[in-house]
Parts: sequence; C-alpha cells; structure tokens
Amino acid sequence: MKTYRLVSYPHPALRKKAQPVTEITDEIQHLIQEMLRIMYEGNGESTGIGLAANQVNSLHRVIVMDTPQYRDENAPMEKRIMINPEIVWASEEMMDCHEGCLSVPHVSGGPVPRHARIRVKYMDEHGKTHEEEADQLFANCIQHEIDHLNGVMYFDYLPKGKRMSFMRKYEKAQREEKKAGN
Ligand code: NI
Repeated sequence: MKTYRLVSYPHPALRKKAQPVTEITDEIQHLIQEMLRIMYEGNGESTGIGLAANQVNSLHRVIVMDTPQYRDENAPMEKRIMINPEIVWASEEMMDCHEGCLSVPHVSGGPVPRHARIRVKYMDEHGKTHEEEADQLFANCIQHEIDHLNGVMYFDYLPKGKRMSFMRKYEKAQREEKKAGN
C-alpha cells in the first residue's frame, strides 16, 4: 500500500477541506497507521503530538494525537484516533496558546485563541462513536487538528503584524533548509 509523507506549508493540501469518512476501509486503517508513524517520527527536529490527514496529503477527516499527560505525569499519554471529529460544545472561556506544527518546521507562535474547554464527538478506528471533554493541551491540540481538516493554519489567527513577521521567519528558515540541501 501507499507510503505517505509529511507535507510542509505551502503545500496545497493544507488549504483544502477534508471530506467525511463514510466507511472505515483497509485504506483508512492504513492511512491511520501511516499517520501515527509520521507523527512519532516527526520532522527531524521534533516529534509531533498531533497530525491531521491533510498533512500527509490525504483529504479524509482523520486526526491522530498523542499529547503528554498533564494531569498526572505517570499516566499514559492521551493517545487518540479521531475519525470525523466534531466539536459539539465549546466554553466561552478562551485560552491563549503558543503553537507549532510539523508542517511548519523551525517556527512556532502565538497567541492563538482557543476554547479553554471543549466536548468532541468522533468515531474511533473500530467505528465506535465517542464523546469526551478536553481541556488544556489536549483541547488545544484537538482544535488545531480539526482546523487542519478545514484548511485552517494556526498562524491565520495571529494579529496581522505578528503574522507577517512569522511568515518572514518561516520563509527564511525554508530558504536556509533548501540551501543546506535538505
Ligand atoms: Ni499542525
């Protein structure tokens, strides 16, 4: 089966809207395994805590996550596979997040306004429906990944001046990477 690869901004897939999964086929299962592999592998400078299908040039509504456990550091990671994820409730309370993205290497930025608490509904890889609440980093990550499925990047939220300096910094890093032959 197909080997997927991480794509970097401005790859066109990152600006497209992914489509709902209607059936969990072998192809979808393979995509999930590939996404987990790519998330853990990271982009050479850091490993990921979340990945959306658009980031491997696939337009299915699938996200994978493995965020560090913040409530109890000895607990397992918050590993999730979410198919057709949907935010069904979001707190009015917001939080300012500082974010990075495997598809936007070498840079990170904020403040990105995110809902402090959300409830998300999704299907797991066995086709079972779940609804759960999330806060802190987990909620931050879910909102970032669902945005990817809608073609939205976290830097879109930055105030204009900050966004422009962010893009200059990113473009410079991209040029340097190219020069280094990566
Ligand atoms: Ni991302």
